[in-house]
Amino acid sequence: MHAVGIVAAAGSGLRLGADRPKALVPLGGRPLVCWAVDTLRDAGVADVVVTVPASELRAFATVLPADVRIVVGGDTRTASVRAALAALAVVGTADTVLVHDAARPLTPSDVVTRVLAALAAGARAAVPVLPVVDTTVTVDDDGLVTATLERAALRRVQTPQGFALATLLDAYDLLPAGVELTDDAAVVRAAGVPVVTVAGDERAAKVTVAHDLAVAELQLGGSG
Ligand code: C5P
Repeated sequence: MHAVGIVAAAGSGLRLGADRPKALVPLGGRPLVCWAVDTLRDAGVADVVVTVPASELRAFATVLPADVRIVVGGDTRTASVRAALAALAVVGTADTVLVHDAARPLTPSDVVTRVLAALAAGARAAVPVLPVVDTTVTVDDDGLVTATLERAALRRVQTPQGFALATLLDAYDLLPAGVELTDDAAVVRAAGVPVVTVAGDERAAKVTVAHDLAVAELQLGGSG
């Protein structure tokens, strides 16, 4: 199995309220994107492509290791991953791909190992998940609760998500232009591919708002 990695880092991070794209915001003195690349590399995935905002090419090139490939992303996460896959398709030797969010900087490499193990065991798609602890409901446009979901059947999905490379390439080819999904498991599911789950990790939490960054800094302090 030869795995390559994609780190999606082309988001603006508006909800974080920072003065720069989220992936460049420092955690423990290093940009989030550098932590995400390390997670993949620590698990043995050396060949990594990072999607970045077009306006920030130089800033990303300055902070990323020289052997990371940088690709301009798109307006949505779906468009960004499409761009990275196009860059990967010309390489040729890889048979497996991991897609990771730069916004999950402290993901332990054990999570990557579990995803890769599921793929090695024959899965075409594998994602790390955690249980949902809150009661979770749906609401209508007025905010009125319309249903309470069966919590035992719900999971929170994290990254990195792993795929047979041909499976992910085919699924993106099949996805109609203009359809935007929030993760890659949803893209392969739309193509009818079964998605296996493995155990995620609370430390792989996504940094979205300022509080998440504060928690990540505390986590780092506690693990040092
Ligand atoms: O917006 P969200 O937090 O779901 O983004 C998840 C990841 O996808 C982030 O790491 C972000 O940088 C990336 N992304 C991207 N291109 C976009 C939007 C988000 O690579 N246009």
